[in-house]
Amino acid sequence: MEDHFKKVVSHSKEYGYIFQSSEIYDGLSAVYDYAQNGVELKKNIREYWWRSMVYMHQNIVGLDAAILMHPTTWKASGHVDAFSDPLIDNKDSKKRYRADVLVEDYAEKLNIKAQKEVAKAKKRFGESFDEAQFVSTNPRVVKYLADKEAALKRLNTSLEKEDLADVKALIEELGIACPESGSKNWTDVKQFNLMFGTKLGASAESATDLYLRPETAQGIFVNFLNVQKSGRMKIPFGIAQTGKAFRNEIVARQFIFRMREFEQMEMQFFVRPGEEMKWYNYWKETRLNWHLSLGMGDENYRFHDHEKLAHYANAAADIEFNFPFGFKELEGIHSRTDFDLKAHEEFSGKKLKFFDPEINENYTPYVVETSIGLDRMFLAVLSHSLQEESLEDGSTRTVLKLPSILAPVKAAIFPLVKKDGLQEIAHDIVETLKWDYNVIYDEKDAVGRRYRRQDAAGTPFCITVDHQTKEDQTVTIRYRDTMKQERIAISEISEKLKISISYKDWLS
Ligand code: GAP
Repeated sequence: MEDHFKKVVSHSKEYGYIFQSSEIYDGLSAVYDYAQNGVELKKNIREYWWRSMVYMHQNIVGLDAAILMHPTTWKASGHVDAFSDPLIDNKDSKKRYRADVLVEDYAEKLNIKAQKEVAKAKKRFGESFDEAQFVSTNPRVVKYLADKEAALKRLNTSLEKEDLADVKALIEELGIACPESGSKNWTDVKQFNLMFGTKLGASAESATDLYLRPETAQGIFVNFLNVQKSGRMKIPFGIAQTGKAFRNEIVARQFIFRMREFEQMEMQFFVRPGEEMKWYNYWKETRLNWHLSLGMGDENYRFHDHEKLAHYANAAADIEFNFPFGFKELEGIHSRTDFDLKAHEEFSGKKLKFFDPEINENYTPYVVETSIGLDRMFLAVLSHSLQEESLEDGSTRTVLKLPSILAPVKAAIFPLVKKDGLQEIAHDIVETLKWDYNVIYDEKDAVGRRYRRQDAAGTPFCITVDHQTKEDQTVTIRYRDTMKQERIAISEISEKLKISISYKDWLS
C-alpha cells in the first residue's frame, strides 16, 4: 500500500498531474499546483459533480461567492470560537501532531492487525471459513477490535467534554510514540484555530482583520435569501458551489489528502424543519450513487456515521474511500439544522426566513449539506486508476485507467511514420476533433512507446494513421484498458469518443 502511494506521488509529477508548490524554493508544505494533465482532470471532476448536482436537479442552482467575507460571518458560524484541532508536540523530536489523529492511527493499526488475522484464517480454512463467527469468537481478533473501540470511545468522550488532559492521558496510557523519533515525551494538548488570518486595507492602523474562508458553505448561507428571492425558489431547494477553502492544518500530510489550500464542492439543501432526516438519507444515498457511477468498485466505499457531532449538526456521516493508506473520509453529509441561518440572523440583525405558502408559515429552513473535497476526490480517482499490469509476454505496463469521462486527454492521434503524408492526415483529424474533445498529436518515438506513454498518462484512445488510411480512410483505434485494436473509419472516431464520455450513460 505504501509503495503504491509513493508511486502515485511520483507518477503525478512525471506525467504532469501535480507539482509541489514553489518547488524551486524547496516547496511549501501541503500546498500543491495542478499541472497540464492535473488541471484537466480536476476540471472534469468538478464538471461531473456540477452536472449531477445542478443540471440534474431542477431545484438546485449554482453560486460563486467570494473567498473574502465580512469577518462577523466567522463569529456567527462558530469558526472563530470552535474551529480548532487538539494539537500535541513531541518534546524530543519537536514534531507537532493532531492528538486525535495519533489515537485514530493507533486504532487503525489495531484494526489492520485484526484484518490480518482474518485473512490468515481465511487462507487456512478455505471454503468452509465463516468470517462472522471467526471475528466474534477468535480471542485475538476480539481483543484487537475491543481495544480499538475503547480507544476511540474514550477519545470522543474526552473531546466532547473538552477534557484535553484526558486526551493526553489516553495517548500516554496507550503508549503512543512519536512516529518520527519513537519518543513518548509529550507536551500537554492545546486547541489550535485553523483559520488563516489576513488584512483588508492600506495602512496597518485602518486595516480590518479578515479570514480566508475555511469552508465555502458560509457564502451560501449569507446569500440564502438573495438566491431564494431572485430565483423564486421554493423549499426544498439547494445552492451548489465549488471553490477554494483554506485551513492551517496542524498535520498536513498524505500528499493532496490534507492540504492548507484546497477546493471544496458543496451543496446546501434548504428544507422544512422536521423533514431534515428524510433529506439527509436521500442525500446520503444520492451522493454514494454518484461515487459508484464512476465504476471504481463498490467495495471501496463505506459510510461512517459520526458519533461526535460538529457544533452545528444533528446528524452526520462520511463517505469513506479506500485510499492507498486505508479507508478515509472523502465526503461529508451533514444535517446542519437551522444553526447557520439562525446565527446569521442574530449577528446581522437581518431576517433569513422563508414564507412557505403550502403550510402558510414563516420559518427558518433546516439545511442538509453535502461537502466533498475536490482534491481528495482527485486523489481517490488517481490512486485507484494507477495500475501495474503483467502482460502475457512477461513484460509489465503502467496504466492509468481513469474513467474516460474524467480523462484529461480523450484521444492521442499518431501518424505511424513521419512521412508519406501521414502527418498531414493525423493533423487533419486533430483539427476536426478539437472542437469537441481535448485531443493531442504525437509523432515522437516508435508507435509502441507512444501507446505506453498514453497508457501511463491515462488517455483512453489512441488513433493511428498508417498507409492503409490513404487508401480507405480508416485508422487503427487502440483501447487503453484492453489494449485491443480495431480498424474504424475516420468518420466514426467522433462518435466513438462521444459515446465514451456521455454524461447520460455515466450518470444515469
Ligand atoms: N462545510 C462542511 C465542511 O467543510 P468538512 O468535513 O470540514 O466539512 C468537507 O470538509 C470535505 O472537504 C471533506 O470531506 C474533505 O473531502 C475536504 N477537506 C476538508 N479539509 C481538507 C483539507 N485540509 N485538504 C483537502 N480536503 C479537505
